[in-house]
Amino acid sequence: MLQAYTKPSYTGRFIVFEGPDRCGKSTQANMLEKYFTELGKEVVITREPGGNKVAEDIREILLNPDNDVTAMAELLLYEASRAQHTEQKVLPALKAGKIVICERYTMSTCAYQGYGRGIDMETINRLNNIATLGLTPDLTLVFLMSDKYFKERGEYLFSDRLEREDEAFRHKMRKGYREIAAKQENTVIIDADNDIKTVQETVLKEIKRFNII
Ligand SMILES: Nc1ncnc2c1ncn2[C@@H]1O[C@H](COP(=O)(O)OP(=O)(O)OP(=O)(O)O)[C@@H](O)[C@H]1O
Ligand SMILES: [Mg+2]
Repeated sequence: MLQAYTKPSYTGRFIVFEGPDRCGKSTQANMLEKYFTELGKEVVITREPGGNKVAEDIREILLNPDNDVTAMAELLLYEASRAQHTEQKVLPALKAGKIVICERYTMSTCAYQGYGRGIDMETINRLNNIATLGLTPDLTLVFLMSDKYFKERGEYLFSDRLEREDEAFRHKMRKGYREIAAKQENTVIIDADNDIKTVQETVLKEIKRFNII
């Protein structure tokens, strides 16, 4: 039996924004980055899958609607992208004392590939641990919105391969996010049905409550 990685040490803070497609992660992550920058903090804002060259190349394969990717290949591609991104970008920034804001992380894999595609959670958790070298967030904010907003907040957008999944798939994932959030430490669910300003106020309240700064 292989040993699991334990959380590496660092002086920065690691904040993850999670939740299904179009729930407002990028909007809120960008607003939080601005807030920290104005306070004079060093911030790195990044995303999964992607965040650096190799990981962004993998993202293109994953999100291209023309690609017929099997469930297991999809999982392994996400984990490959995560391994590259964590080791090359996230951990060095945290070790340099910076605040890292990351859109999507391990919880998305549990929700999409676990609850969505039906891959067993033990396999996913094991791969997440390997790909992250044991790095877990200091705070995960999970944005959940009602399905009626999915179209309203993105009808004009190009739909990537995963956004083309149907309402039943999105329902399974919302359930997944709720169940995972209930078990995962340092994790809060945020009502993303609210307007942008109200959501930001909640984000800042949680940042303070978790002593992120
Ligand atoms: N609270 C909100 N109320 C209304 N509209 C919102 C709210 N938050 C974000 N939006 C709008 O919804 C759309 C999707 O938001 P955003 O890109 O931030 O979501 P996302 O979770 O990052 O999506 P993705 O999963 O595709 O990366 C944008 O047009 C954004 O302006
Ligand atoms: Mg986004």
